[in-house]
Amino acid sequence: MGVRKTLCKLGDIPDGGATVREVENADDPHSLILLRRSGQVFAYRNECPHAGRRLDWAPGRFLIENGQLICAAHGACFLVETGRCIDGPARGDALTPVAIEIVDGEVRTL
Ligand code: FES
Repeated sequence: MGVRKTLCKLGDIPDGGATVREVENADDPHSLILLRRSGQVFAYRNECPHAGRRLDWAPGRFLIENGQLICAAHGACFLVETGRCIDGPARGDALTPVAIEIVDGEVRTL
């Protein structure tokens, strides 16, 4: 069983927006996208299935429009709730979801 890690407070993520957290695992360091929709948070690896690039255009700054997260590299559009790509060069692929929980207003890995 992995160690649960607090990523941020729910209030650190703008409602309707997103933030990023770098996970410093020694064996698997990676970047996470955390997207908030009121009390819900959706978490994905910050790695586009098209060419493996980060999706933010600057650290923690994402393009989000009409419920879609748009990769800053080549414009692939992903549904916030599922991570599925519905348009652009990664069409048919999906972001890799990451299991999280919200406890006492904190977002934690599972
Ligand atoms: S790397 Fe995301 S659309 Fe190309």
